[in-house]
Amino acid sequence: MATDATQRLTIHRVEAPERRADFAEDTREGLSGKPKSLSPKYLYDDLGSALFETITLLPEYYQTRAESEILEDQHEAILDSIPGTLRLVELGSGSANKTRVLIDTILKRQNTLEYIPIEISETTLENSSKDLLRWFPGLRITGFASDYENALGALARDYAAAKKIRTVALFLGSTIGNLEPEDRYGLLSRIRTMLEAQDALVLGTDLKKSLDVLIPAYDDALGVTAAFNLNLLRRINEELGGEFDLSQFEHEARYDEDHGRIEMHLVSKARQSVKISKLTMTVRFEKGETIHTENSYKFDPEQLSSMAQKAGFHLDRTWLDSKNQFGLSLFTAQ
Ligand SMILES: C[S@@+](CC[C@H](N)C(=O)[O-])C[C@H]1O[C@@H](n2cnc3c(N)ncnc32)[C@H](O)[C@@H]1O
Repeated sequence: MATDATQRLTIHRVEAPERRADFAEDTREGLSGKPKSLSPKYLYDDLGSALFETITLLPEYYQTRAESEILEDQHEAILDSIPGTLRLVELGSGSANKTRVLIDTILKRQNTLEYIPIEISETTLENSSKDLLRWFPGLRITGFASDYENALGALARDYAAAKKIRTVALFLGSTIGNLEPEDRYGLLSRIRTMLEAQDALVLGTDLKKSLDVLIPAYDDALGVTAAFNLNLLRRINEELGGEFDLSQFEHEARYDEDHGRIEMHLVSKARQSVKISKLTMTVRFEKGETIHTENSYKFDPEQLSSMAQKAGFHLDRTWLDSKNQFGLSLFTAQ
């Protein structure tokens, strides 16, 4: 734990050796499996996080623009629906650029605000926190540089209740769509456990749409998403002593109609073997064999109500952007 000079920033960290052990263990398991896979949370090292921020600027990546539009247009309405003194907990906060409008509006309604970002990329968390603190003198930040699970476990729900502060959890960017259905309900239930009745969850979800729009959003003309995906192999090379030749793999984005999800894969261009020295393993690939690196589930607006109910929430309202591409929903804890 470290506190900065201003006493307004506290960051709780999972120690580096522990993080590295998790990455090593998960990589071993994922590359030993059939089919081969890696967890999308490992896409976000420092370089991966910077590449993701670049993706959000791409013309093909409509999601960030659509969700920003909703927040710009509806932030007053969203916050009017959650009266009282608030604190904000944000999962996978990233740059927190979209969160600014909410922080700004809350600070016009109350003098101070506690913001609790949970973000696996420590550098991203530190940079975005310092930036926010410069902008908002009334803000105090208690960040968790960790996985959602660790942080939610550590968050005390009694603290806010005792002070009669309502907690608003934010989960933006349709990051929920990166989780498998059972993990999605597991995480929503964990969030619910951290909340009191009448606390809220503001959840961003990408909606099902035409493949003409969907596929380019995950396979852009500049190749930034390809670099984001291939960076996972570079990370294995750097942190685990891998010997991946990145030119021998290519990025692929495909839509799985049955599951309603975009899948990202790394396709082996040739039959090859790759050593990973710190795992003392050699991984064999057939030509065309893939490593499945990320799913992004897409949702129907009708799904949202049952998703809320199943995890102990009530769906109060979903706001859509002007092109009906993205939904931002207000779930109230029951
Ligand atoms: C799709 S990005 C969204 C970022 C931002 N919320 C937005 O809407 O632009 C997902 C973010 O969640 C973080 N993340 C991914 N998996 C995570 C995990 N298991 N625990 C904590 N953070 C995670 C990533 O580092 C990244 O910043």
